[in-house]
Amino acid sequence: MPKITVFDLDGKQHILLGNSGDALMEPLRDEGLVEATCGGAASCGTCHIYLGADWLEKCGERTEDEGYMLEGLEEHVEVKSVSRLACQITITDDMDGMTMDIAPQI
Ligand code: FES
Repeated sequence: MPKITVFDLDGKQHILLGNSGDALMEPLRDEGLVEATCGGAASCGTCHIYLGADWLEKCGERTEDEGYMLEGLEEHVEVKSVSRLACQITITDDMDGMTMDIAPQI
């Protein structure tokens, strides 16, 4: 179970345990850190996170739908090169130690 460190919008640290094979959005939602209102369809943007830069590569490329959603968010919040939708990332064992910040919500 990879251990994931998340900083919420107040800068408070949360240590979560993820299940390999689950979407990264799931432990974030279960902890109450994101709403994930679309249930993982890359269409609400409420699971927007800023990944720790060292972890970008391990999380793979943005999906096409994710790219469109992030473009849409840009009008409202800062979208960074490390921006991802947590619902589009699958947790793997080698993500142990991963860090991220919850992005501001619209
Ligand atoms: S849960 Fe809606 S975009 Fe990720």
